[in-house]
Amino acid sequence: MRTSMDYISVLVLCFSLLLILETATAIDTINTTQSIGDGQTLISADGTYVLGFFKPGESKSRYLGIWFGKISVVTAVWVANRETPLNDSSGVLRLTNEGSLVLLNSSGSIIWSSNTSRSPARNPVAQLLDSGNLVVKEEDDDILENSLWQSFEHPTDTLLPEMKQGWNKITGMDWSLTSWKSPDDPARGHFIDMLSPNGYPEIQVMEDSKVKYRSGPWNGLRFSGSNQLKQNTRYTFEFVYNENETFYRYHLVNNSMVWRLVISPEGDLQRFTWIDQTQSWLLFSTANTDNCERYALCGANGICSIQNSPMCDCLHGFVPKIRSDWEATDWSSGCVRRTPVNCSVDGFQKVSGVKLPQTNTSWFNKSMNLEECKYMCLKNCSCTAYSNLDIRDGGSGCLLWFGDLVDTRVFSQNEQDIYLRMAASELGNGDGAKVNDKSNTKKMIILSSVLSTGTLLLCLAMVLYIRNRKQRRNRKVSGGFERNSNSKLRKENLDLPLFDLYTLAAATMDFSEDSKLGEGGFGTVYKGTLKDGREIAVKRLSKFSRQGLDEFINEVKHIVELQHRNLVKLLGCCIERDEKMLVYEFLSNKSLDFFIFDETHRLQLDWPKRYNVIKGIARGLVYLHQDSRLRVIHRDLKASNVLLDHEMNPKISDFGLARSFGGNETEANTNKVVGTYGYISPEYASDGLYSTKSDVFSFGVLVLEIVSGNKNRGFSHPDHQLNLLGHAWRLFIEGKPSELISESIIESCNLFEVLRSIHVGLLCVQENPVDRPSMSYVVLMLGNEDALPQPKQPGFFTERDLIEVTYSSTQSKPFSANECSISLLEAR
Ligand SMILES: *[C@@H]1O[C@H](CO)[C@@H](O)[C@H](O)[C@H]1NC(C)=O
Ligand SMILES: *[C@@H]1O[C@H](CO)[C@@H](O)[C@H](O)[C@H]1NC(C)=O
Ligand SMILES: *[C@@H]1O[C@H](CO)[C@@H](O)[C@H](O)[C@H]1NC(C)=O
Ligand SMILES: *[C@@H]1O[C@H](CO)[C@@H](O)[C@H](O)[C@H]1NC(C)=O
Ligand SMILES: *[C@@H]1O[C@H](CO)[C@@H](O)[C@H](O)[C@H]1NC(C)=O
Ligand SMILES: *[C@@H]1O[C@H](CO)[C@@H](O)[C@H](O)[C@H]1NC(C)=O
Ligand SMILES: *[C@@H]1O[C@H](CO)[C@@H](O)[C@H](O)[C@H]1NC(C)=O
Ligand SMILES: *[C@@H]1O[C@H](CO)[C@@H](O)[C@H](O)[C@H]1NC(C)=O
Ligand SMILES: *[C@@H]1O[C@H](CO)[C@@H](O)[C@H](O)[C@H]1NC(C)=O
Ligand SMILES: *[C@@H]1O[C@H](CO)[C@@H](O)[C@H](O)[C@H]1NC(C)=O
Repeated sequence: MRTSMDYISVLVLCFSLLLILETATAIDTINTTQSIGDGQTLISADGTYVLGFFKPGESKSRYLGIWFGKISVVTAVWVANRETPLNDSSGVLRLTNEGSLVLLNSSGSIIWSSNTSRSPARNPVAQLLDSGNLVVKEEDDDILENSLWQSFEHPTDTLLPEMKQGWNKITGMDWSLTSWKSPDDPARGHFIDMLSPNGYPEIQVMEDSKVKYRSGPWNGLRFSGSNQLKQNTRYTFEFVYNENETFYRYHLVNNSMVWRLVISPEGDLQRFTWIDQTQSWLLFSTANTDNCERYALCGANGICSIQNSPMCDCLHGFVPKIRSDWEATDWSSGCVRRTPVNCSVDGFQKVSGVKLPQTNTSWFNKSMNLEECKYMCLKNCSCTAYSNLDIRDGGSGCLLWFGDLVDTRVFSQNEQDIYLRMAASELGNGDGAKVNDKSNTKKMIILSSVLSTGTLLLCLAMVLYIRNRKQRRNRKVSGGFERNSNSKLRKENLDLPLFDLYTLAAATMDFSEDSKLGEGGFGTVYKGTLKDGREIAVKRLSKFSRQGLDEFINEVKHIVELQHRNLVKLLGCCIERDEKMLVYEFLSNKSLDFFIFDETHRLQLDWPKRYNVIKGIARGLVYLHQDSRLRVIHRDLKASNVLLDHEMNPKISDFGLARSFGGNETEANTNKVVGTYGYISPEYASDGLYSTKSDVFSFGVLVLEIVSGNKNRGFSHPDHQLNLLGHAWRLFIEGKPSELISESIIESCNLFEVLRSIHVGLLCVQENPVDRPSMSYVVLMLGNEDALPQPKQPGFFTERDLIEVTYSSTQSKPFSANECSISLLEAR
């Protein structure tokens, strides 16, 4: 009785049902003499699923569907009449004598039918199973395979555990998911999630008839290059490919879990689990989250790497087809071979750790080994690459590609290898690289890949450098910059864009209080508007900066060359009288601290945005640390030095001011400690020793701050004396890191990503710099699902550690009162 009361209240609450429920004991089966009207339901034997009429979201129409029976939020997993909504609550579901389920409207017209074709039926019944499957079967036959019709074979937008996604080759049945039009309208939307029909199967998300996203082919363990199907404690998966059917499906490890996969109206593949404590769905993971997941972003024979800037590159031995397009970052034209292949004397270039290219033109054989596979590829002139089909047990099977290689990406070190067909001359210095010469091939390939990576990097660096020069020159011509009369500058630094003091004073209304944006570590920042309407930010450096003119010019010259989408762009500078000013692009949103530490503004930054911020900062730092021509250490990375553009993309500011240095020097000693309490690393604070690993430490602090919404500096907790780093570590080793997550992102968060971020954050704040990962490794870790090393106790574990160090700063401003404010982590 009680459960039926609960049930009624749920229905009334969530569905705004107009009807009064007829008192009925729950049934899971109807026969041909019974029917289900609006307000009545079928409930599966254990109550997990319910079939009935409902009204999605704001819609006024009614639909027959199946939803979860035991959770408080009504979530439809299957809809019968998705294209033919009912206008009122007079719909009735019946089972015909032929075994067809029919939905009738008030005038008795059939508006939906299951069209059951297997006939004749003797004594058909329709039953809602505990798996969520609605089946029509003979009353006395419980074997699923013999059923006349199953809702699992006619999916809508949701994949439930045990449900197959793929194809039945005998009946031609297509088990793919089609998104809803909108959360209010279950009609077929633009996106389809399916197993590709041609070549070796992969998952594809289609937008109308175009591929939007694809996984790589199944490699025995998971779909190649996909984080979606890795081993985990929640579910296992199964892939079947035989003469009758092709499909994959999930099996829950614990059936008490409530789980679903949905293709959203926006085309995202999302996995949700129901969390009882919060009474809400937790988005566990989303496919297609980063730019490299965009199908064929880099065109034919291109390869995407999320760590690189630009992301696209050509596969080894290929060059951009239309170079000018590539330089304008339009990669869609793809790449072509530098040297045409010569069918008789080609070799193969091994490329490791990739998501395999699209397989719709592939050929495969499960029992061949890699050597036979290579031979097979070599025999056919149009074969362009080969790889193992299955990576388990050292690899087996053969997969061949013909024609262009599309949608390859750098994935993770543990991912698959692919062997690309190359003209022998592309493999190195020509001879020795022939296919038959096995021992040499290996060496040659290693050598050539080392050489080619080097050459590629060099070329890339040169292209970037030339482009930067060109861009800067263009800017100077078109941008209306006025030259300073300082002849020394003109003589030495023709490339340095100079603003004159008069222009900047006019732009900032004489550096008025009104145009002041804030005070940073090195001076005051003003907002300005140039005569042509462009908005700029002007940093007026403190006069007491001891830096000499030459040193300053030198630094600015270097900073101007640093260009990356996650760095604030320096437009130029101004040196006149005793003034030194830097002119930056202006960013409309404020800095990161304004969002994450503020009660109201923190809601504007949901988890996907925060994760994007974390990854963006990481990429910006990789660029500073290793990809830029100079090795640049930021030395004052903190939340207030990360600015956000109008799309909430992060841009690091104030980099390079603390002296850049080049060459092999990775560590340096300085008597001036620059930095901010709470972010500086132990070795930097105590010994003034800084390296790129000092920035990694600051980055780790920042990540934990972004996840927790708390400042490291001034953190306090009723249970202990630890700072934020110590607190995070404690929760981590106690196995409850999720308690660190800020209330404001609980709803939007992807648990896997958040936990991964916390883990990576802890690795970054290790006491010993050697234990901290490099920034490029950080980017890699954030981008895959490989196992991570276990962090040790972080440096600066407690607040006391901090006080013991002798801290001196000549350039940072003193901490304002609010930087020391104490925020309590609410116990949950
Ligand atoms: C249908 O089920 C009802 C209730 O169990 C039963 O009374 C009726 O005889 C059944 N009809 C047929 C045709 O089996
Ligand atoms: C709903 O109403 C519209 C217009 O009034 C009608 O065309 C349509 O057939 C109705 N649909 C159903 C399922 O009754
Ligand atoms: C029932 O459906 C039919 C066919 O769609 C339609 O012509 C008719 O108007 C509908 N009846 C009502 C009452 O909506
Ligand atoms: C059933 O068959 C009819 C006629 O062939 C078709 O219009 C309708 O879309 C089919 N319904 C389903 C649910 O497949
Ligand atoms: C394919 O279907 C046929 C006929 O139904 C059956 O005999 C065979 O065992 C099936 N093969 C597999 C691998 O299930
Ligand atoms: C399944 O999960 C439930 C609730 O979380 C738990 O009580 C139960 O022990 C689990 N069963 C197994 C076999 O792990
Ligand atoms: C391939 O290379 C061999 C040896 O270098 C040469 O004899 C032959 O003509 C080439 N074939 C083609 C089609 O280029
Ligand atoms: C493979 O897919 C691409 C992109 O969708 C398409 O252009 C090409 O025609 C397909 N090839 C085959 C054989 O299906
Ligand atoms: C697959 O390879 C094995 C071993 O080389 C061979 O016996 C078999 O015929 C091949 N199958 C196909 C379909 O080519
Ligand atoms: C090479 O492979 C393609 C695609 O499978 C096939 O159409 C062609 O006949 C093959 N050529 C030879 C010489 O085997």
